[in-house]
Amino acid sequence: MDGWWTPLIVVAVMVGVAWAWTMVYRPLLQVRRLVKELAEGKEPSGFVARGAWGMEEVIVNLDKLSERIHGLSSRAEREKYNLRTIIGSLSEGVVITDPEGIIRLANRSFLEMFGLPSFPIGQTFMETTRLPEVARAVELTHAEGGGRSLEIRRPTPEQPEGRIFAVNFAPIVEGGSGERSGVVTVFYDLSKIRKLENVRSEFITNLSHELRTPLSILAGYLETMEDPAMLKGAERREVMEVLRRNCERLTGLVNDLLELSRIESGQVQIRVQPRRPAEILEEVRSDWKRAFAGKRVRVELECEEGLPEVNSDPLRIGQVFANLMDNALRFAPPGSLVSLGARLSGRQVEFFVRDEGEGIPDDKIGRIFERFFRVDEGRTRERGGTGLGLSIVKHLVHLHGGGVRVESQQGRGTTMFFSINPSR
Ligand SMILES: Nc1ncnc2c1ncn2[C@@H]1O[C@H](COP(=O)(O)OP(=O)(O)OP(=O)(O)O)[C@@H](O)[C@H]1O
Ligand SMILES: [Mg+2]
Repeated sequence: MDGWWTPLIVVAVMVGVAWAWTMVYRPLLQVRRLVKELAEGKEPSGFVARGAWGMEEVIVNLDKLSERIHGLSSRAEREKYNLRTIIGSLSEGVVITDPEGIIRLANRSFLEMFGLPSFPIGQTFMETTRLPEVARAVELTHAEGGGRSLEIRRPTPEQPEGRIFAVNFAPIVEGGSGERSGVVTVFYDLSKIRKLENVRSEFITNLSHELRTPLSILAGYLETMEDPAMLKGAERREVMEVLRRNCERLTGLVNDLLELSRIESGQVQIRVQPRRPAEILEEVRSDWKRAFAGKRVRVELECEEGLPEVNSDPLRIGQVFANLMDNALRFAPPGSLVSLGARLSGRQVEFFVRDEGEGIPDDKIGRIFERFFRVDEGRTRERGGTGLGLSIVKHLVHLHGGGVRVESQQGRGTTMFFSINPSR
């Protein structure tokens, strides 16, 4: 009789233990695992949502919470990535420093501006740029807040006159607390803008110079003409000739300038057609025969056999040759030879005009395609040159997809080359 309930108790204890295991202990283990995974920033692994005393609800809510945290942190990662991509692709140099002035982020443009071999993360501005004024401005921006800017000049081995940068500094202010947590520094390279400004002012100086000479000659002679008694017969004819020549010079200058600005601003469209190089050269020779004969200069053709047809706008290529022939005529001594030719150069056809004139000094040869450049200012101006011809040539050849070059030996002569594309 006694003892019949012993198995009952055993069964009851076993049921109790099983219940406690599934409804209390296992959910507790799960809560512990979930909390640990959350704390470690891991994505929570799977779980069984069963438990006593609201345990089930705790687990479900913990899981939701972990999903939200995970979502937020991947959004933050994405935004960080976007920010890095944007900063990385800027042409300005960008550097972010922390409150201690240590560089935490820098982009590739900054690296290139300062010729750094690698990202200077963990270094200070002073170590990286060796510019004390920049390091000081970063410190002040962090300490005092507010934006500030600087202009600095930094000599480089390639540019001894230095690259010029505008540098802007802005504190990073935390949204909630308003505390300053670092500084953003942005470097703009002003060298190109400064160079353009110099080119512009040089252009205006050159232009004024060119205009002043014929204008003052005109003014002087017009004054003389106010008293007709002063001018008689041959003298009068001579004055009229000077006036006419200087008016022509002014018109030529204005026309060349207009042409250059039309080409440079892309208003000139070329209309190419296939032409045989020999045919082009023949035309040039017959156009210029008379002018060269007047100076006793022979013109010979040197056209390679079997050249392909070229893509040429007859009007524009005519203009190119007119400028080259005009120079050759001006520099070729009487009794000398001017050769006019074409040959194959890679895929392109290269035309040339060679004279036996005085040549161009080595130190000037690199500049002759610049606007207004003349080797011998005074003498060339006397001969009527304004230094615009070759820059027009260069632009017209570029419109044809070709290039220009020059070879010259002082005292021996000059060869001007330009290449254009074959039509097929
Ligand atoms: N064949 C050449 N031989 C020697 N020097 C030359 C020759 N062609 C050009 N030059 C030099 O290059 C300079 C620039 O030539 P460019 O044709 O641009 O100007 P220009 O002939 O002086 O004036 P423009 O052509 O505008 O009337 C010339 O002033 C001259 O000093
Ligand atoms: Mg010229």
